[in-house]
Amino acid sequence: MPAVEIKPDVFWVGVNDRTTDLFEGIWPITKEGVSYNSYLIDDEKKAIIDLTKSIKGDEFLAQIDEVADISKIDYIIVNHMEPDHSGLLRTFRRIAPQATILGSAKTKDMLESFFSIKDNVQVVNDGDTLSLGKKTLKFFSTPFLHWPETIMTYEASHKILFACDAFGSYGAIRGSIFDDECEHFDFYQKEALRYYVNIVANYSTRVLRAIEKLSGIPVEVIAPSHGLIWRKNISLIVNLYKKWAEYASGDTEPGITLIYGSMYGNTEVMMNAVAQGISRTGVPLEIFDGSRTHSSYILPSLWTKRGVIVGASTYEVSLFPPVAEVLNMAAQKHIKNKKAAFFGSYGWSGGALKGLKRIIEPLKWDLANTLEFVGSPTGEELKKGERFGASFAELIKK
Ligand SMILES: Cc1cc2nc3c(=O)[nH]c(=O)nc-3n(C[C@H](O)[C@H](O)[C@H](O)COP(=O)(O)O)c2cc1C
Ligand SMILES: [Fe+2]
Ligand SMILES: [Fe+2]
Repeated sequence: MPAVEIKPDVFWVGVNDRTTDLFEGIWPITKEGVSYNSYLIDDEKKAIIDLTKSIKGDEFLAQIDEVADISKIDYIIVNHMEPDHSGLLRTFRRIAPQATILGSAKTKDMLESFFSIKDNVQVVNDGDTLSLGKKTLKFFSTPFLHWPETIMTYEASHKILFACDAFGSYGAIRGSIFDDECEHFDFYQKEALRYYVNIVANYSTRVLRAIEKLSGIPVEVIAPSHGLIWRKNISLIVNLYKKWAEYASGDTEPGITLIYGSMYGNTEVMMNAVAQGISRTGVPLEIFDGSRTHSSYILPSLWTKRGVIVGASTYEVSLFPPVAEVLNMAAQKHIKNKKAAFFGSYGWSGGALKGLKRIIEPLKWDLANTLEFVGSPTGEELKKGERFGASFAELIKK
């Protein structure tokens, strides 16, 4: 993708990645892709803010060449050390050894441990500024967005906040990089939530702290390191982030996530009855087959919805493993304080419910109701399942 001038003398350069299957080696992006946004400021001194993952290096360097001579770059600003932004740092250093690398004190240590880079590194503290000539950059410490060393960079003349992972999303750029020109706005909004819950949500308290800290700064462009550049809907993405971060400890939306898993269809039959019961109440419901859906796609529903119903059969005296795997990831992400219910089929002595309790106990999920049955459900049991779904939905409505 050619370089894009986002404001006079400020350019998007970066890699539009449509070939990586798993982000961080965990999260599927095969269909969606992702972009690693890097920004070049062409002033008397030239600065580049974040680099990209170590793929398509030639393409990235050619983009920069369109704007400026790489060997004459003065500063490399490392907002975040994660290799999706720093992967090309060693290559860059070889081409532009004179460029000073700027980052937080923790970044300085990490540069040594990750890349053996020690020379020509300058530490910037919260509130420090750097003059590039006509433009001045200001640095803000924003730890754990998304690593402990992370900073954000602000350019005052155009009021651009280079926010790194914050306000980013999965999704390769589909033509325009600007939110107001984008024809796939719903897609990016959905992918911003998936990215938030997969990557950032564990640090929601830090997100709220950063939003509060930056609230007094006039921002006309949010330039994140993944996905769309926000210049029209700034308050929309900031408010979404605030809302999602508040979900970590506060109340969420009246809706139900139903995660089920079934080997031979017995639990699945019951799942349909339960869903029927819920549908009559008007409470929003999302259903996921835990065996066939990666947790990456289920976590956003769990994060935003008040209720969870788990439907799983017993497998070797415990919860059906693909469903357990999804719930373990929810535990990893500290998805707490849900109202929950459980149903499932077993063959002889059961064990799924015990397995579920082991996982959700530390998450303080309130297990409101359970429905277990042997083998395939009878007509009477299916009727019970409908009532079970409806009464749980009524509980969620309150
Ligand atoms: C590999 C395997 C392991 C199982 N382990 C147990 C078990 O430990 N205890 C039990 O009560 N039932 C066990 N069952 C029986 C199932 O829970 C039972 O067949 C149930 O009806 C399956 O429901 P499903 O078709 O929704 O998966 C097992 C079944 C399979 C295939
Ligand atoms: Fe990151
Ligand atoms: Fe990132």
